[in-house]
Amino acid sequence: MQQSLVVTAIHDETDRIRVFELTSAEGGDLPGYTAGAHLAFDLGDVGTRSYSLIDWPGEDRAGPYVIAVQREDDGDGGSKAMHSLKTGDTITAEGPKNDFELRDHDGPALLLAGGIGVTPMISMATALQAAGRPYDFVFAARSAEVMGFGDKAADQLGARRFYDDTDPLDLPALMGDLAPGTHLYICGPKGMIDAARAEAVKAGLPEDRIHIELFTSTAEAEGDTAFEVEIHDSGEVYTIPPGKTIIEVLEEAGMDLMYDCQRGDCGICQTDVISGVPDHRDVVLSDAEKASNTVMQICVSRAKSDRLVLDL
Ligand code: FES
Repeated sequence: MQQSLVVTAIHDETDRIRVFELTSAEGGDLPGYTAGAHLAFDLGDVGTRSYSLIDWPGEDRAGPYVIAVQREDDGDGGSKAMHSLKTGDTITAEGPKNDFELRDHDGPALLLAGGIGVTPMISMATALQAAGRPYDFVFAARSAEVMGFGDKAADQLGARRFYDDTDPLDLPALMGDLAPGTHLYICGPKGMIDAARAEAVKAGLPEDRIHIELFTSTAEAEGDTAFEVEIHDSGEVYTIPPGKTIIEVLEEAGMDLMYDCQRGDCGICQTDVISGVPDHRDVVLSDAEKASNTVMQICVSRAKSDRLVLDL
């Protein structure tokens, strides 16, 4: 559902994290949502960027939407476009939509947040606390100075805080001590997600109890080179240059593709690979699926071979 939203309040949580409150530009109630949901903002030429909706205990769910945006100075312009918004500006957003739902389970939830990846975890901890469900909220950041929402998350939601520079999180210890039936929810940068997932699997947690959301795109990396994609149905071949994704090139060529997050964490763009070797950059596929080279997420992943033949 597309909505026109007006910015009603702005404040800075840290030097780089800015908090926005948004209400309906048309007036009336905002559509509801569940913990873990996001809005996808239309930023014109920059594209679409998604930000999680934040709920704190006791706050009025019928009140304004609240999101937080961390400015990425080396990013592709999405966060800077959001930071240029002023009170009274109107912006279009798709949603709320939830690709990161809390699951129904009897065992406890381990909520593991890295940096600005804390935003959906705040809403999840709020929902779990309200429902009287057990959870452990673990929040890591590079330092106390750059951690946004740390005091409030600790005071209101019992978050345990860790800092890379002074008191780093011990992932093997955390995962080695999981209560039976735990479901692990992770939101943060890819390096942290990969490390946490590997430790959780090593500790015996089944993959179907690990739930992940990335907060940055992993599409680009230094040293990316061009490769070819052959469309199996038509035989047409397209070159994917560095800095462009498979989806971007195929859409420009007029193809109609299914996708959503464009960060490699929702799984909607998953495509069968007929031949070639993908360079997987998603967090959707298990290690075994990645090693099989038979499927890939075409929003972020690239190729290790000169050509991929895709079942499109
Ligand atoms: S669009 Fe979400 S994984 Fe590709």
